[in-house]
Amino acid sequence: MELRLKYGTLRLVHGDITEQRVDAIVNAANSRLMGGGGVDGAIHRAAGPELHRECMEIIRKIVRLEHGNAVYTRAGRMKERGIRWIIHTVGPVWRGGKHGEPEILERCYRNSMKLAREIGARTMAFPSISTGAYGYPVEKAAKIALSAIMDELEKHEGIDEVRMVLYLREVFDTQLETLRELGSGN
Ligand code: APR
Repeated sequence: MELRLKYGTLRLVHGDITEQRVDAIVNAANSRLMGGGGVDGAIHRAAGPELHRECMEIIRKIVRLEHGNAVYTRAGRMKERGIRWIIHTVGPVWRGGKHGEPEILERCYRNSMKLAREIGARTMAFPSISTGAYGYPVEKAAKIALSAIMDELEKHEGIDEVRMVLYLREVFDTQLETLRELGSGN
């Protein structure tokens, strides 16, 4: 499903983010940019060791990436697939919802899109940040993710397409339902 907003299109895809032909893909990273499991592991495997080296250079400068913030690196071997940048953002760890988790998650999406505009990425893909190892409930996360992306695409010029790439069928189905609700409310 896709939804056309003022400056760009939001599209939902069931698939693997490392296989998307977009300018930038977003990684659900950790504060140390160490690589991990889930989508982080898949991105590091696909990009190769150069990505880890670049991440460590960033950490030498900033020590840690705070939850909700975003930085970018090049895409290592994924360059061959047409991907130019990886935007790394750290989602909130779910602790019941009253510890600022919704605000942090929203900032992940908005800051990643701001960074994409700054580096000139016109197409980008997001995973469902925080809904794996970090335990954020999928439906709540979908509302925040899609509302933030839609709002950014209504307000700012620069990104032509944002793809939400959902690896698990049930996460895709939840996002689809949420987008239908949000889209019809427009
Ligand atoms: N493409 C797209 N989405 C994927 C892929 C993939 N190749 N692999 C996994 N996912 C999905 C998961 O199914 C989940 O819905 O990404 C979503 C986010 O899950 P995680 O990768 O576990 O990310 P998160 O919950 O934000 O936890 C981050 O996990 O890997 C570590 O280093 C990472 O510590 C950090 C933490």
